[in-house]
Amino acid sequence: MAFFSLLAAPVLLFTGPLLLALPPRDSAETSDAAPSEEPYRPQFHYTPPTNWMNDPNGLVYHDGTYHLFHQYNPKGHEWGHMSWYHATSTDLMHWSHQGVALPEEGNEMIFSGSAVVDAANTSGFGTGGNSSPMVAIYTSHYTLEGNSSDQAQSLAYSTDGGATWTKYQGNPVLEHPDPEFRDPYVFWYAPDQRWIMAVALSEQQTVQFYASTNLREWAHLSDFGPAGATGGIWECPLLFQVPFEDSGQTRWILKVDLNPGAVAGGSGGQYFVGDFDGTTFTPHHGVRKHGPHWVDYGPDFYAAMAWNHVPESDGRALWMGWMNNWAYAKHLPTPLRRSAQTIPRSLHLRPLQGEPRLVQQPVEELQRLREQHVHLDSRPLAAGATPLKEAGISGRSLELVAVFEPKGAKTVGLHVRAGTDEKTVIGYDVEAEAVFVDRSASGVVDAQSDIPSRSSAPLSLQEGRVKLHVFVDRSSVEVFANDGARVLTHRIAPTPKSEGVSLVRAGSPARLVRLDAWSLRSIWNDS
Ligand code: FRU
Repeated sequence: MAFFSLLAAPVLLFTGPLLLALPPRDSAETSDAAPSEEPYRPQFHYTPPTNWMNDPNGLVYHDGTYHLFHQYNPKGHEWGHMSWYHATSTDLMHWSHQGVALPEEGNEMIFSGSAVVDAANTSGFGTGGNSSPMVAIYTSHYTLEGNSSDQAQSLAYSTDGGATWTKYQGNPVLEHPDPEFRDPYVFWYAPDQRWIMAVALSEQQTVQFYASTNLREWAHLSDFGPAGATGGIWECPLLFQVPFEDSGQTRWILKVDLNPGAVAGGSGGQYFVGDFDGTTFTPHHGVRKHGPHWVDYGPDFYAAMAWNHVPESDGRALWMGWMNNWAYAKHLPTPLRRSAQTIPRSLHLRPLQGEPRLVQQPVEELQRLREQHVHLDSRPLAAGATPLKEAGISGRSLELVAVFEPKGAKTVGLHVRAGTDEKTVIGYDVEAEAVFVDRSASGVVDAQSDIPSRSSAPLSLQEGRVKLHVFVDRSSVEVFANDGARVLTHRIAPTPKSEGVSLVRAGSPARLVRLDAWSLRSIWNDS
């Protein structure tokens, strides 16, 4: 893990002829002051009111509410003083900020972890009227003398539906001699009527599994790793069941993040498909045959966490990730807040080359944000770039669904957030059989050398066509290609007036089969 300087960059304030450097704010604002005014504040992605954020934590559904906690610095705009901030939603789109739930105290920071609803009160934390406590399982990161540190797993609980939280007096509940021991993901394993924890020994590139009947005492079950991609440390493991698209069957997915060494450079996630028998995770053989399976081929999807206890009537496997990369997170030119979470995604398995592969789709709830709709019918693609402003398609918060028939062309695709001298290119490269996103001229790209990048993912055409489902926000582009077979997530920093969308083609004639575009409402001022 990269631990960064706790000194936040000074804020520059223009006061007539003088530029004053103000010290960083030392507490979070509680309101969303004119979020629509901020050029890079995402309009339909979760962000805290201000300050630094990283991993989503403790995603859990309880009594009609989706809870989202996340790594948060209450004191500044860079990593430090890690605490859990809390937000709630009833529709996965509109979030109410609830403030810091688990603060740093003394020499103990609150690192990543998960949350469960202890419906049978196995922990005994439930009292009186509330016998189904919510329990958070997180990593205590202890700063020790002489520049050293230690990590162990701890509990906190809430008996009022998540409004207030109490750290357990008996913390920590799980220790290990290795000081890099973190990010517990806990879920209820019904066949054995007990809790299972997946937790990382980061430097050993190992995920450990533990079991407990009461969340307080844990027994070691088995280890997994090193395996797959091992170019960096392992963090934020996740073990959960994902359904196939066309049957009720499920498989176990073990996701683990890697920093650095991911497919698009810097940090990113990989996954293994396999079986879990309550004790051991056994991967299928795909990894040896095809190399690591990447969760997302863009640089900005990390530390994804799945929602626990999604009701059976809903049945979806849902997750979101931190839309950022440790390689440059603190350099993103987004003052007031650093980072955003991705849109929530629902997960399925789809056979590819005879093996189940993870596919991700934007959750349907996003459709509620759709405003003006423009539809373009089938037409030949002109050579070069064709701006769509006159067709009514432009903007900074957009959803686009475009189907192309590339035929013999070299590339087909779209420019988004296009303006004078800048654009983000989303395309299909016919010869390489790959979908790509090029942000090298997307706006402010010089803050760090990994930012002006091009990322790509192998993708076969389907009956000669490629479908690009694109979400454009103030400072991000997420591309779901061929119904989520490949996903590429990117942060960008274009100038506000770059609102253009164009159709593009290089090489021989090709066709646009259809394009649907919607402007998306902001989640912040949405009544
Ligand atoms: C992942 C991570 C976790 C850790 C947290 C600290 O991004 O490094 O391993 O718990 O962030 O903020």
